Amino acid sequence: MHLSARVIMATGISLVLGLASCGGSAQSGKGRQDSGLSGSGLAAPQPGLKDYYKDYFPVGVAVNSRNIKGPEAALILKEYNSVTPENDMKMGPVHPAADQYNFAPVDSIVAFARRHGLKVRGHNLCWHEQTPDWLFKDAGGGEVAKSVLLSRLRDHIRTVVSRYKKDVYCWDVVNEAISDDSTELLRKSPWLKIIGPSFIDSAFWYAHRADPKAELYYNDYNVVFPEKAKRIYTLLKGLKQRGVPITGIGIQAHWSVYQPTEQQLRSTLDLFKSLGLKIQITELDVSVFPWEKNKRALLPKDQIRYQGQVEDRQTAFYKMIFKVFRDYKGVISGVTFWNVSDRDTWLNYYPVEGRKNYPLLFDSALKRKPAYQAVTDFKGAGATAP
Ligand code: XIL
Repeated sequence: MHLSARVIMATGISLVLGLASCGGSAQSGKGRQDSGLSGSGLAAPQPGLKDYYKDYFPVGVAVNSRNIKGPEAALILKEYNSVTPENDMKMGPVHPAADQYNFAPVDSIVAFARRHGLKVRGHNLCWHEQTPDWLFKDAGGGEVAKSVLLSRLRDHIRTVVSRYKKDVYCWDVVNEAISDDSTELLRKSPWLKIIGPSFIDSAFWYAHRADPKAELYYNDYNVVFPEKAKRIYTLLKGLKQRGVPITGIGIQAHWSVYQPTEQQLRSTLDLFKSLGLKIQITELDVSVFPWEKNKRALLPKDQIRYQGQVEDRQTAFYKMIFKVFRDYKGVISGVTFWNVSDRDTWLNYYPVEGRKNYPLLFDSALKRKPAYQAVTDFKGAGATAP
């Protein structure tokens, strides 16, 4: 607990909440709660998410350089004990030219985390998106040779992992390698096309050699869909059988208020638990729109008012998933939200540019939503241990 992050509550209601014990305090009543980021004078610091979950798993958040100053920084320090750089560690941003790294933005996030004792998740080392232009090309602009691409991957991973070895405790080594087409295992990315399926093994070995102590994850989306889960299972089982140094699976968890069901979620966790892997929830957000496979940027924007049934549905959904996460605390080694608040969530731009979404536990004014109360009130919800 960092004293600098402690914020003293001023209002009566906050004082009461602050005195309630962590890990199951009853916070009755709906409506917005003061975020606990303003005011001063009275003692009794209010617990944050990380305090409620201290006996379960670290609770993290994806951040960019904008978030680590001002009121958002105060919120991060109050609520979370882990951060993931949202974009700055990806290959495109961090390695824009073959002989040039852009470390400054990541360095500032890592320094912030170090200063305040937060864990850092590294995201990510090998992905088909947000790659730099030079990566897959040779000097003449043609497709790079397999051996050259492998050595680029090795050098990139070695450089980045070594640099942040003291601070980053785990990495998303390979991101989203499974195909969206259910008739094939791996996505037809340049990595697959040029190197073949072994690029995945190689990436894990390079990361392991650069930091043998780091936890190494395979990270993907739509993991709760049984058909995709099965293909991810096949991939990960193969890695385990070949002795590839993998710690676990990162379940991105870009979910919606309509899915997954509790049963789907439990079956998914059971499936990967049966492989002896750790599980991290790496990019949690809960869209108020149904899941959309394709971008709909050209369609008219739907606007949803975040109130009434929508809010209640999201609150109940959050309560359900966190009850399940707690039930699986022995297997789940971290839960990370993707962005700080509804004010600045990537879902305001994706998959429909400019469509407002409300996927997180804090609203646009950084206030705790009823969903926050639902995940910090450990009573009710009826789910049982597996
Ligand atoms: C997203 C970022 O949040 C956006 O800012 C960026 O424009 C695109 O990438 N899966 C991942 C994350 O693994 O890296 C993505 O992050 C969201 C989907």
